[in-house]
Amino acid sequence: MGGPEELIRGAVSYFDARLGGVPVLRKTLHYVFPDHWSFMLGEIALYCFVVLVGTGIYLTLFFDASYAHEVYRGSYAPLRGTEVTKAFGSTMQISYETKAGLLIRQAHHWAANLFLVAIVLHLLRIFFTGAFRRPRDVNAAVGVTMLALALLEGYAGYSLPDDLLSGMGLAIGYSVLLSVPVIGAWLGALVWGGAFPGGDEFVSRLYIAHVLLLPIAIALLVTIHLAIIVRQKHTQFPGRGKTERNVVGTRLWPAYALRSTSLLLAVVAVVFLLGGLVQINPIWLWGPYHTYAATNGAQPDWYLGWLIGGLRLMPPLEIHVFGYTLVPNPFFGGMLFPLVVFTLLYAWPAIERRITGDDARHELLDRPRDVAWRTALVAAFFTWVAVIFVAGSADQISVHFQIPYGQQVWFFRIAALAAPVLVYLVTRRVCAELRSRNSRPPRGAVVRRTPAGGFERIER
Ligand code: HEM
Repeated sequence: MGGPEELIRGAVSYFDARLGGVPVLRKTLHYVFPDHWSFMLGEIALYCFVVLVGTGIYLTLFFDASYAHEVYRGSYAPLRGTEVTKAFGSTMQISYETKAGLLIRQAHHWAANLFLVAIVLHLLRIFFTGAFRRPRDVNAAVGVTMLALALLEGYAGYSLPDDLLSGMGLAIGYSVLLSVPVIGAWLGALVWGGAFPGGDEFVSRLYIAHVLLLPIAIALLVTIHLAIIVRQKHTQFPGRGKTERNVVGTRLWPAYALRSTSLLLAVVAVVFLLGGLVQINPIWLWGPYHTYAATNGAQPDWYLGWLIGGLRLMPPLEIHVFGYTLVPNPFFGGMLFPLVVFTLLYAWPAIERRITGDDARHELLDRPRDVAWRTALVAAFFTWVAVIFVAGSADQISVHFQIPYGQQVWFFRIAALAAPVLVYLVTRRVCAELRSRNSRPPRGAVVRRTPAGGFERIER
């Protein structure tokens, strides 16, 4: 009997004789990854997705996607005897009766939140460093599509349990859909299979979208995203020995594979620690959804805050034609705003090419300070979205800090316009300062060893 090395050698030659994949395998194992922490953000997103699929499969074994009514008889005493839907009842059962149910449910929800944190940070790194320039503009578009799908996936997920948070979120989504000019009413009826809140037809659609259609679409796009990266190779920051024609870093096998596996395990550990220790979406506190009930302390997941903020900050503008409301108010905050944000994300590589006239391939990244105008514009854009995002929690701010809601709306409306300009100017200044520090020799004294073996102090 040979050792493990011989076993692997035997297995590889078995498959090579039949499938002939050794050259591809060798190339893959020799693939070089740049050594910079910011390249791990995409991987963290990837691993959150892996956890989401794993924990999600477990939840599908117990969740019942039905609005049929039943009387709750589970172990959470305050709700016992209440009429709830099967969707709500089965989520309660997962949380209180199913083995490891609450852990898996909370880990799933935490993974969703971290997934979007990782995607947004990854996107920032791509935009701040110019990684979206030719030839990676196509992959940036794939990435932005995944961001849109991930947002929809999260929304569909927390809309499933039919608690008060789900119902309120769906009511907002329905109103925004209705506000689409001309075809809104049809769209609403089409998606909901009738009027809000819909019945089993709607919840089973929502379920299929959440557990099958959207995850498959994201998984397909992740595969395309990674295949394009392997084909185009990673970018890298400029530095000694780094050129437009090489990648300096760590080979996939063995070092990077082990590093990345550790990252996977770390992501799993963090998600499960959070799932086990930090309560998230306690639907028993929100209670089952009723169309007449619309107040509670529940907040949507963080990544939808910017859309809530958009709806809140939009002045009461509507467009009427011949006595008909052509564009109802929710359209501006709930549809037009995300449309503008996503159009800018998709179009930025082309816009930048137009501005700079630079159509060349770029394998080396920009340090953000070196392209101050882009860094400042990207910072201003994200500030704009971030201010509107914070406005999404104006209700909580007014409850906890007693700041009147109306005053906050005005403050955020002004801040959404002023803060980006301020951030643009400050960022340009900071970049210029950082650049000039780089070109100046460091101030102070240096102690140097003399050829005779002593030390001398040189003032600068
Ligand atoms: C589900 C969401 C996403 C996953 C799982 C994901 C995963 C990854 C991974 C693992 C990498 C290689 C490591 C790295 O460069 O960080 C990468 C690179 C890249 N991603 Fe994503 N990504 C996602 C979303 C996005 C988004 C929203 C964008 C939009 C800008 C984007 C654009 C890119 C680009 C251009 C590269 C190549 C970067 C380079 O070579 O420097 N990705 N992605």
